[in-house]
Amino acid sequence: MARWLLNILIISSRHLISLSSQQETSLCFCKGSSEWIITADKHFNESNWSCFYKKPVELSSSKPLSFSTHFVCALVPKKGHEGGHGIAFLVSPSRDFSHAEATSYLGAFNASALESSPSSHVLAVELDTIWNPEFNDVINNHVGIDVNSPVSVGVASASYYSDMKGKNESINLLSGKPIQVWVDYEGTVINVAIAPLKVQKPSRSLLSQHINLTEVFRNSSRLFVGFSAATGAAVSDQYIVGWSFSTDRGSLQRLDISRLVEVPHSSAPHKKLPIILLVCLSFVVLSLLA
Ligand SMILES: *[C@@H]1O[C@H](CO)[C@@H](O)[C@H](O)[C@H]1NC(C)=O
Ligand SMILES: *[C@@H]1O[C@H](CO)[C@@H](O)[C@H](O)[C@H]1NC(C)=O
Ligand SMILES: *[C@@H]1O[C@H](CO)[C@@H](O)[C@H](O)[C@H]1NC(C)=O
Ligand SMILES: *[C@@H]1O[C@H](CO)[C@@H](O)[C@H](O)[C@H]1NC(C)=O
Ligand SMILES: *[C@@H]1O[C@H](CO)[C@@H](O)[C@H](O)[C@H]1NC(C)=O
Ligand SMILES: *[C@@H]1O[C@H](CO)[C@@H](O)[C@H](O)[C@H]1NC(C)=O
Repeated sequence: MARWLLNILIISSRHLISLSSQQETSLCFCKGSSEWIITADKHFNESNWSCFYKKPVELSSSKPLSFSTHFVCALVPKKGHEGGHGIAFLVSPSRDFSHAEATSYLGAFNASALESSPSSHVLAVELDTIWNPEFNDVINNHVGIDVNSPVSVGVASASYYSDMKGKNESINLLSGKPIQVWVDYEGTVINVAIAPLKVQKPSRSLLSQHINLTEVFRNSSRLFVGFSAATGAAVSDQYIVGWSFSTDRGSLQRLDISRLVEVPHSSAPHKKLPIILLVCLSFVVLSLLA
């Protein structure tokens, strides 16, 4: 069983944070280096980024793949820019996404993934803020499930079922506020739910899709789990502030919402930075059983 929980902060916009001196707690493999790579920089119109947990999930033929994850992210638009493009939770046998493209490919895919037999195998759950009808997007503000291609197999406008009110409530992904995301895969069904920070996991999923991941990852013996994000002419600072993952749903560690870092506001003065750095460098793995 693989199980881990971490409170992390991906910082964007011109600040590189090196974790190389933190061997013990250097948890992520990031594109090109062991550093957290910036998602957006005002000097570059397009940027892509991906980051994976260093330990893979080992697959075995005796036990079919299942997993549960809960993370908290925030997409903060840059002042004077349209916000975009979004962030994706990834499951893939490879953690080399150097061939992935920015903008609507979310740093997870490239144009050749649109071909009928894509060379990469990846499951992505995307929080996407730009409307690309060619990718099956229903609206700019949406959540999608993608298998090997940015053309979503399941998509819904960003909302959650409010158990208190007994109805769906929409969520603006670009509000800059933290958003909780749950992804559960068991049997051959993947369920995705989102909710604002203070709301419990909704009893009804936003997306429920039949996908046989054993089929998708048939030739793989291990899978990496992580995130990607991209910007284009539309720019946001995109953060993950907490993440818990388990291959056994019952063992998923609770994310302590009260201990999450406060998401910096895009207009926040830079003097807030030391606080962010402190949190970044002191994140801990509370549990890691492999
Ligand atoms: C970024 O986009 C703006 C507006 O679309 C354009 O004027 C500028 O040349 C672009 N810069 C780069 C480096 O591509
Ligand atoms: C995506 O990332 C790779 C590796 O860092 C880089 O070579 C490539 O230029 C990036 N693409 C875009 C569109 O930013
Ligand atoms: C697209 O990604 C695949 C792997 O996923 C890679 O083999 C291919 O070279 C990439 N294509 C381009 C045009 O970068
Ligand atoms: C609420 O959202 C779910 C998931 O998108 C959908 O299946 C359901 O029809 C919606 N319910 C209402 C009352 O709109
Ligand atoms: C999923 O795919 C695997 C590999 O092709 C197959 O052995 C298994 O029976 C499939 N599961 C279901 C429920 O269809
Ligand atoms: C697995 O490998 C076989 C043989 O190389 C290939 O035919 C098949 O398409 C692969 N399956 C997947 C899901 O990649």
